[in-house]
Amino acid sequence: MAENQPLQKPKPLHRIFTAIPERYDLINHVITLGMDTGWRKQAALACLTSRPQRILDICCGTGDLAIAIARLADYNPEITGVDYSQPMLDKAAEKAGKLAEGKNIKFVNSEIAQLPFPDGWFDCVGISFAFRNLTYKNPLVQEHLDEVLRVLRPGGKYVIVESSQPKSALMRMLDHLYLRLWVFPSGLLISGNKAAYKYLVESAEHFFSAEEAQEFLIKAGFKQAAYKRLFFGAAAVYVAIK
Ligand SMILES: C[S@@+](CC[C@H](N)C(=O)[O-])C[C@H]1O[C@@H](n2cnc3c(N)ncnc32)[C@H](O)[C@@H]1O
Repeated sequence: MAENQPLQKPKPLHRIFTAIPERYDLINHVITLGMDTGWRKQAALACLTSRPQRILDICCGTGDLAIAIARLADYNPEITGVDYSQPMLDKAAEKAGKLAEGKNIKFVNSEIAQLPFPDGWFDCVGISFAFRNLTYKNPLVQEHLDEVLRVLRPGGKYVIVESSQPKSALMRMLDHLYLRLWVFPSGLLISGNKAAYKYLVESAEHFFSAEEAQEFLIKAGFKQAAYKRLFFGAAAVYVAIK
């Protein structure tokens, strides 16, 4: 880990996520027809089953996965959210401030390809709706995977919730129509950010199926990877073990 050296490579997508508007959470709820909260909850529960003590939410955005984990935990894990967009982190900190007293949660500004944490530090790394951002046509894909593996302890879990591809051809076609006819126009209308929602639709349409993502995680160096499809396979939760 080169903790104190600036990352020399460009930061893919950074401009899109720093320009993201005030209404980011609202847009997520609208474009997923309110299902994003339940999907994140499934990832939070998958994370908590082994009662991890140190948990990292990468690409935490406005903190929804980290906050869901903090709310659902019946013990007091140490939760860290990390993202490279300061406006997102500011929102996350504001929301976490409303959590019950005594929750152990903090937010750190960092590029995922260069995480400021020691080797093997975390029992669980979670990511909600950003695995696609870190992998799809991303020139730093290898660095992102290597960093997740580095900061996880052996036996630690990488929990991912991400859009996927429905298995049946009909559902897949309907899913892609929904991306074009609902996600793109409603995201554009509420945010005014055409590039962000054009990218979302294009990347979601071409992203991994659950089986492909599972194979990708194993090739990346995880010992095991399992998945559970959500909503006819439009999304999936993955648990990969280091
Ligand atoms: C689609 S949002 C998802 C946010 C949140 N996890 C959620 O469930 O809503 C993607 C987030 O990943 C962050 N991000 C993307 N690439 C990143 C990178 N290479 N390093 C750090 N953060 C990154 C963006 O700033 C953004 O906040």
